[in-house]
Amino acid sequence: MTFNFASTGAYVPREILSNDDLSKVVETNHEWIIERTGIAQRHITDGENTSDLAYQAALIALNKANLSVQEVDAILVATFTADSYTPSTACLVADKLKCRNNVLAYDINAACSGFIYACETAIALLATKRYKNIVVIGAEVISKLLDYTDRNTCILFGDGAGAVVLRAEGTSTLDYSMCYRMEDTKHSLYAKGVQLTNPKYSEAITNQHIIMDGKAVFAFAIDAIHQCIRDWQTSTGSTLDEIDYVVLHQANDRITSHIAKQYKLNSSKIIRYVEEVGNTSSASIPMGLDYLSRKGQLLPNKKILMIGFGGGLTYGAMAITL
Ligand code: UT7
Repeated sequence: MTFNFASTGAYVPREILSNDDLSKVVETNHEWIIERTGIAQRHITDGENTSDLAYQAALIALNKANLSVQEVDAILVATFTADSYTPSTACLVADKLKCRNNVLAYDINAACSGFIYACETAIALLATKRYKNIVVIGAEVISKLLDYTDRNTCILFGDGAGAVVLRAEGTSTLDYSMCYRMEDTKHSLYAKGVQLTNPKYSEAITNQHIIMDGKAVFAFAIDAIHQCIRDWQTSTGSTLDEIDYVVLHQANDRITSHIAKQYKLNSSKIIRYVEEVGNTSSASIPMGLDYLSRKGQLLPNKKILMIGFGGGLTYGAMAITL
């Protein structure tokens, strides 16, 4: 399958929440957070919602691709922090961009693997030849789901958005893609929605905060990444030597370090940018691609392996050649 990987964009809210800021609201400190996660700060919204961040990232990517909004055929937003149950974040982004009416717009929720799932879907849409220009966005305002008294989660996550424009005709290739889910038997990562209510007898109990068993998720993440790499190697016969950039979901820098060490990936090959933005869930991989683009590294023929993992439990890998 060939396509055109046209451009990237990224956007974060202005407000920064430093580790020192967090140490004033919860029992933690900069040294612990940096050592255990590699995160120095994260951006949090001061009023913009997920669709606003998604819109800004999409606009940057569309401008970079020199593509008019009238040419956009589909908008896919990977998010688990949509503005509302309905309309979808993708519909709100289409409104803000002033897209045509006959644009396919919908959200995909696969938590931190969402961008891989959304790209898988976008490339399948391109293959139909009915969709020529697709904006794929990963966007999250996770701060609205955080309990700022829970030091296990509030130190980790940040808000942000990343976008890519994928076009039908081009010389980029999809070399491999695989999406997975498995039962979260330990209930290690979840954020509940609104509880079921029955006006006759139930009281609504709503706790929508993210609850995470960090150690269990850490162990799952390592296993998931190993499985992704193993399955990609078995299926394609490729090796990591052939890959120019590995873009892992940026959950915790210790996960990235561990994988870098295990596979002997030097620092120019494995992308690390969690320090400035924290864990931005489905936004993290497209923000990583934009990070490479801003450094002038997204050049023709470069091979990229992306791996996401997170709530669901979900995980997935995609390898492309630009
Ligand atoms: O994006 C979705 C996927 N998510 C992930 O991949 C997250 C994976 N998990 C993690 O990133 C890590 O498990 C955390 C950063 C959440 C926690 O790090 P950890 O190294 O697993 O810490 P821990 O929970 O084992 O706690 C170690 C110690 C404990 O103290 P004791 O019992 O050893 O005295 C904790 O109470 O550190 C303490 N601790 C803290 N201290 C200061 C836990 N959180 C903090 C904190 N500040 N924020």
